[in-house]
Amino acid sequence: MNLRVCGDCHSVFKFISEIIQQEIILRDPYRFYHSAVESALAVPHEISPNLDDFVRIKIGMQSVMQAGLLKEGLCSVQDESAGLVVSIVDPQSGESIIDCCAAPGGKTLFMAAQLSGQGAVSAIDINKGRLRILKETAKLQNVDNVVTTVDADLRTFADQNQDKSNKVLLDAPCSGLGVLSKRPDLRWNRRWEDMEQLKALQDDLLDAASMLVKPGGVLVYSTCSIDPGENEERVAAFLLRHPEFCVDPVDSYVPADFVTEHGFYSSNPVKHSIDGAFAARLVRSS
Ligand SMILES: C[S@@+](CC[C@H](N)C(=O)[O-])C[C@H]1O[C@@H](n2cnc3c(N)ncnc32)[C@H](O)[C@@H]1O
Repeated sequence: MNLRVCGDCHSVFKFISEIIQQEIILRDPYRFYHSAVESALAVPHEISPNLDDFVRIKIGMQSVMQAGLLKEGLCSVQDESAGLVVSIVDPQSGESIIDCCAAPGGKTLFMAAQLSGQGAVSAIDINKGRLRILKETAKLQNVDNVVTTVDADLRTFADQNQDKSNKVLLDAPCSGLGVLSKRPDLRWNRRWEDMEQLKALQDDLLDAASMLVKPGGVLVYSTCSIDPGENEERVAAFLLRHPEFCVDPVDSYVPADFVTEHGFYSSNPVKHSIDGAFAARLVRSS
């Protein structure tokens, strides 16, 4: 299981120093955070080799929960595969980012944390209940000042909205074939017609998301599936419909081990011991 350190390290140190009743001297924030978690909460962990803000724990979740780190919004449970998709969006302080299928908000909140209080994330989703969870968690993690929620069908929103952005993330609804170890129920619930409908929806959402990208801007398409039909094939079909976009290889954003020969991001549960996921970084020329 992965934990992400949310928001600024200073609040985490303050919280942990209260638990262990010792003053903490801040040198290397992340290294100190990691050793504090281990010594204060006795939770063995490994530092993620892929992402600064992530630690891996196999046992000890109970201690983390009892200490209140999740309840206080100082940590969240998030798979590294989701964190790596955010690395590909590469949020920079001051930017305005549109997150097209945002709820329940794992990626939105990580992107918002990376803006360091400057900029904005518009979190669009068709599911009101999940969007409410996103809003509450944004408050808990202290990033509600940069997150706005929009309850809408992306297709209608894109048709009616004139504002465009330099960065747009479409984390599309998918079969979840990359997360079967966590959602074994998905194994039994798939029919051929469902998959065809899902791919048609992914195409529609890609078309809608592309309308929100400024010339020169970036569209990141991601799924938590390892099925080429939902990934590479959707991107290839999109590029045929939208010659104004081209692939920007992701090598500058994630470790080489995750980069496919076509410049996409792909994680695999067997090869990388994290969830399976896919992302393509597409740049709009005009
Ligand atoms: C894979 S989940 C998103 C996960 C989210 N990005 C995260 O990291 O927590 C896909 C989301 O797409 C939303 N969705 C499905 N169809 C949509 C549509 N037409 N317009 C907007 N959102 C839609 C679903 O409600 C669901 O929350």
